[in-house]
Amino acid sequence: MQAVRIHRFGGPEVMALEEIDRPNPSANEVLIKVFAASVNPVDAKMREGKYPVVTEKNLPYVLGRDVSGQIAAAADNVSTFLIGDDVFAFLSPEHGGYEEFVLARVDEVAAKPKSLDQVGAAAVPLAGITAWQGLFDHGGLRQGQRVLIHGGAGGVGHFAIQFAKAKGAWVATTVSTSDKEFVSDLGADQMIDYKSEKFKDLVEPVNLVFDLIGGETQHRSFSVVKSGGALISTLQEPDKARAADQNIRVGRYTAQPNGAQLQKFADLIDDGKVKVVVADTFELHEVAEAQAALKDQNLRGKVVLKIAG
Ligand SMILES: NC(=O)c1ccc[n+]([C@@H]2O[C@H](COP(=O)([O-])OP(=O)(O)OC[C@H]3O[C@@H](n4cnc5c(N)ncnc54)[C@H](OP(=O)(O)O)[C@@H]3O)[C@@H](O)[C@H]2O)c1
Repeated sequence: MQAVRIHRFGGPEVMALEEIDRPNPSANEVLIKVFAASVNPVDAKMREGKYPVVTEKNLPYVLGRDVSGQIAAAADNVSTFLIGDDVFAFLSPEHGGYEEFVLARVDEVAAKPKSLDQVGAAAVPLAGITAWQGLFDHGGLRQGQRVLIHGGAGGVGHFAIQFAKAKGAWVATTVSTSDKEFVSDLGADQMIDYKSEKFKDLVEPVNLVFDLIGGETQHRSFSVVKSGGALISTLQEPDKARAADQNIRVGRYTAQPNGAQLQKFADLIDDGKVKVVVADTFELHEVAEAQAALKDQNLRGKVVLKIAG
């Protein structure tokens, strides 16, 4: 089978499309025939050797963290899925998604949303789970509360806006000027242009800031969190001393695979409550272009690799 692997860390040139052996599932695993895999900012960080979970000892390494496809084989002790079932999954880091077949732990996998094609389904797992765990598991966002989401037009942000709205929260989000209409259509209540407007002067205090940007954006966010509220980041640990002074809960987290959460998203998507936006698609051999596309200005939603089907 074909796979995009790295044998050393570095720029896009270290990614090679290679023939490798198709693996067999061990206990609690399924083998997924991959139809599409999404491209996430973490893929480039792993390729560059800047993601601590993947070190020299993991090389050669197949990149890619989430996929959509069909069950091709299952371990004898797995009865949840049958051969041929359409599924999607956020993979643990020992397995990469940029390949024609991938092993997944059965508890990382869920039935694919019926209303999406394979490309749309591949766009969901990592970004969706990151949004859900940040807002609810770490952020504790509840119905009727207010949230500010930084980077609302990106892969994680566009799910976060819709999950927060589905929960019954009020949502402000920072985006580029040209993305204001896009995030308004997703349900955002207040849109702030991060290049020409100052969110700290425009947004009334919120219960939660969900930070997908870090740096100065994160530092300035302290001023808009209510006492007793939270500032949760996917990128860097917020300042704990400042948080204690302001009676704010802060944290930085890494999203974890979770098949049960994926099943909830499938229901929200099939019920028409959450839209999946695919910004662009590429073939497996165009993986370097696909990763470069993530850096394009005004990318809306997700970039996906079409692998089969
Ligand atoms: N910890 C974890 O487990 C985890 C999981 C997933 C993602 N992440 C991290 O979370 C971040 C977001 O991921 P993603 O997949 O959503 O990335 P993405 O798809 O590349 O989206 C990033 C978005 O941020 C916008 N943006 C850039 N600078 C901004 C600013 N100063 N203020 C507001 N918006 C700004 C971009 O808009 P323009 O293009 O218009 O500038 C783009 O829409 C990445 O850094 C990623 O590595 C962490």
